[in-house]
Amino acid sequence: MYIIYLGIVIALAVLIYFDTFKPHRFPPGPKWLPLVGNYLQLQKLRHRLGYLHLVWDDLALSYGPIIGLRLGNNLIAVICGKEAASTVLSTDAFDGRPDGFFFQTRTFNKRLGVVFTDGTHWLEQRRFLQRRLRDPDIAAEACDLVDDLAKRCQHPVPMHTAFDICVLNSLWAMLAGKRFALNDHRLSELLNIVHSSFRATDMSGGLLNQMPYLRFIAPRASGYITLVNNLQRMWNFMKETIHEHETTLTAGCPRDLIDSFLLEKEEDKNKATSSFTDEQLLSVCLDLFMAGSETTSNTLSFAILYMMRYPEIQQKVQAELDSVVGRTRLPSLADRSMMPYTEAVLMEIQRRVNTAPTSVAHRAVCDTELFGYKIPKGTTILVSIWSVHMDKQHWGDPENFRPDRFIGKDGKNKHDTWFLPFGLGRRRCLGEGLARSTMFLFFSTVLHSFSISVPAAHPVPSLDGYDGVTLSPKPFYATLTPRL
Ligand code: HEM
Repeated sequence: MYIIYLGIVIALAVLIYFDTFKPHRFPPGPKWLPLVGNYLQLQKLRHRLGYLHLVWDDLALSYGPIIGLRLGNNLIAVICGKEAASTVLSTDAFDGRPDGFFFQTRTFNKRLGVVFTDGTHWLEQRRFLQRRLRDPDIAAEACDLVDDLAKRCQHPVPMHTAFDICVLNSLWAMLAGKRFALNDHRLSELLNIVHSSFRATDMSGGLLNQMPYLRFIAPRASGYITLVNNLQRMWNFMKETIHEHETTLTAGCPRDLIDSFLLEKEEDKNKATSSFTDEQLLSVCLDLFMAGSETTSNTLSFAILYMMRYPEIQQKVQAELDSVVGRTRLPSLADRSMMPYTEAVLMEIQRRVNTAPTSVAHRAVCDTELFGYKIPKGTTILVSIWSVHMDKQHWGDPENFRPDRFIGKDGKNKHDTWFLPFGLGRRRCLGEGLARSTMFLFFSTVLHSFSISVPAAHPVPSLDGYDGVTLSPKPFYATLTPRL
């Protein structure tokens, strides 16, 4: 008996010893521990620095722009700086997305949707969405928003969530042909769930992805119960919307993206395999709901925050609006090309805010060489867009909020290849066009209608946001003074 115990202890010790070995020519990084990898070190650093993107920056100082880590069982390569980031984002071998417990729990324990799939399934679904995603009538949405703000502006208005429903409305108009009242409580609750779930995890999939067994040991503390409950509420919401479509669908007459999907599914019904299934439709709706709403509304709330902190820049935007749009109508998308300063302000907000600081995680689909390192198949790749947007050598004064950096000598917008808020390459953001139109119209319509300032007796709000998959503004109020 004693020999058996001894054998087990020795075998475990050998396993644990080998668990600390790094793959051959893996990028440099801190030593890792058996089972948890670098998890504890990263938590400690995150606690000290406040944000995960600052952790990557700190590690890059010691190990260089490509850092090798392990979280639980997952190998991770963190990519910092423009050269490495552009190379990775434009290399097909890094076009995969991570798999694992967290990602699959979102989509019925399968690899579904468009954001966290790869291979032929992803390609087919991405192409379908690219064909069907068309800009809805955002101007009408922006007009409703300012009407609603006008009714509430006698008192300071909470602005950190002010854009939630109207941003979702522009997305939902395209997806489901439907809009919600700006005071819809059920939707506000769902959007609060999205906000908190984006804050509760990070781009590596978080604790549950790295150590999925924790759901059995500590289902509540590991966040598993909250994750499942939140997903259930989101799925119920999507299911209702899809069911309404199924009962009113007319062949040959798609009203929106859900209809188009259902018709595609009908066409494929006799095929042996098809990526157009009921679960895939739910997953796509969930993906677009989460990818599209949080990013855009957070950027817009930060934009208001920056305008409160930089009133002289706000006045310059308003002067441009008054000269191009005038005071008798609201801005439209047709004005955009004539408003380089407003466009530059929005670009600078995106550069400085970094709503998606570590982009969406990628995955190496085969063993690949990267600047002399070997990245094994399956490694999760985290690209720090923050490190590119805040590079001192390129931008000179990256900490400063200076929209003029996006204006050329000819007075037109200067495009800079170091500006990558929507990523790059084949996995570049699918909603970039919609996001840019939404941000321009909502931002310009609000500033055309109101001057925004810090309410008397309120503290000047901080520009620092909450950390998470996206950075989100902390709660803040603004005084909105109607412009006559
Ligand atoms: C300010 C707003 C937005 C920002 C900053 C943003 C940023 C990003 C980034 C950085 C990526 C990852 C690129 C990569 O993996 O290399 C991405 C992917 C994606 N975005 Fe956006 N996004 C925004 C708005 C939207 C909107 C409105 C939609 C909805 C239509 C959307 C849908 C997606 C989808 C579906 C993907 C995954 C694409 C794929 O994996 O093939 N995004 N976005």
